[in-house]
Amino acid sequence: MVVHLWLRSEPKANERRSALSPEKCKDLLSAGFKVTVECSRDRVFKDEEYARISGVDMVPEGSWVDAPKEAFILGIKELAKSLTPIPHTHIYFAHAYNNQNGWAEVLNRFIKGGGRILDVEYMTDEYDRRVAAAFPPLAGFAGMAVGISAWCHQQTSPQITMPAMKPYSHESLLIEDLKMQLQGAAKTKGLHECYPRVIIIGALGRCGKGAIDLAQKAGIPSSCIAKWDMKETQPGGPFEEILQYDIFVNCINLMKKIPPFMTRKVLDTDQRKLSVVVDVSCDVTNPNNPLPFCDSVTSLHQPCRTLQLSNSTKPLDIVAIDNLPSLLPRESSIQFADSIMPYLLKLPEVKTHPVWVRAGRKFDEKAAEVLNHQVKC
Ligand SMILES: NC(=O)c1ccc[n+]([C@@H]2O[C@H](COP(=O)([O-])OP(=O)(O)OC[C@H]3O[C@@H](n4cnc5c(N)ncnc54)[C@H](O)[C@@H]3O)[C@@H](O)[C@H]2O)c1
Repeated sequence: MVVHLWLRSEPKANERRSALSPEKCKDLLSAGFKVTVECSRDRVFKDEEYARISGVDMVPEGSWVDAPKEAFILGIKELAKSLTPIPHTHIYFAHAYNNQNGWAEVLNRFIKGGGRILDVEYMTDEYDRRVAAAFPPLAGFAGMAVGISAWCHQQTSPQITMPAMKPYSHESLLIEDLKMQLQGAAKTKGLHECYPRVIIIGALGRCGKGAIDLAQKAGIPSSCIAKWDMKETQPGGPFEEILQYDIFVNCINLMKKIPPFMTRKVLDTDQRKLSVVVDVSCDVTNPNNPLPFCDSVTSLHQPCRTLQLSNSTKPLDIVAIDNLPSLLPRESSIQFADSIMPYLLKLPEVKTHPVWVRAGRKFDEKAAEVLNHQVKC
């Protein structure tokens, strides 16, 4: 049977990434897939780039709701809020398995419609490692970039809210821009050069490595980059040492309840250098969030939220953007499509291929949780 893959448009504002690059459509077509692509005004690849590939069917934005039931609907971020039942199998980052806001509503749409989620976050190998994982390094990379930019803005224009950040069409343009911003910050202080001191928690992970990479490429000396992971946080927070850094970037993968790394109370002092907190992990609705004061997301449009403190008059900006790789949409789309492609090509074996079986099992577990909860209520 011919497998039908349907690339949907992304309803989330400012989301320019695509789960499938035009190049990879060709691979699917060569492997005998039927490929449908929804038009999109925002996607980093133009509609024409897909349309010129012979065999790709172009359809209107959001038309997946009327797609044939057997089509696999591929996307990146959450679907638009709705209660309409879904009969299809969707491959995307649902963010609905960890008690996030509205998780049961999302799962209920699939349960009622007879559809399924094959969540990209739960496409894992036999060691429980994610297999389609190209975004995280870029998320850390972009998170550190926003943090540095926010810090530079505090130095040069302390009275003005940080403006929107626009996606960069290439990594080198982002680095060049950050170097200029760092020069601007140094000039404001009357210095030849001046770098923020940064601390990364979760530094050994994928996002953490991306954050370190960006800091180094922006020219921040190694002596100004502190790298913490499990060993350093083992004694349990909150950690007052973090106050001595300018930028704190949280990149952990939260698996269980842990003591907070930082609290509003510890932050509420003028005896701190810390002025930017970047929550790459972005567990803002997770009850176990180790940064409990990071309780709502920000966006590339409004990158920073000022944390209101009772006593301290020093600025403290929070960055909690949940689609950070969007800062570099072309690179992240190409990397993601490369990493998921081997598994998309295995969709004809969706019922037996271990990666898809594990993702399906996770959906079944979570769907059962929702149903049990409803029975108890
Ligand atoms: N904001 C975004 O746009 C975005 C994009 C992608 C991923 N993420 C999120 O970033 C987080 C990290 O993802 P990843 O792929 O880098 O994970 P990862 O598993 O590769 O790395 C996580 C790291 O955190 C460390 N860690 C876990 N608990 C810790 C603790 N208590 N103290 C210190 N270190 C701890 C681990 O040892 C590991 O090195 C996830 O929550 C993921 O959902 C965010």
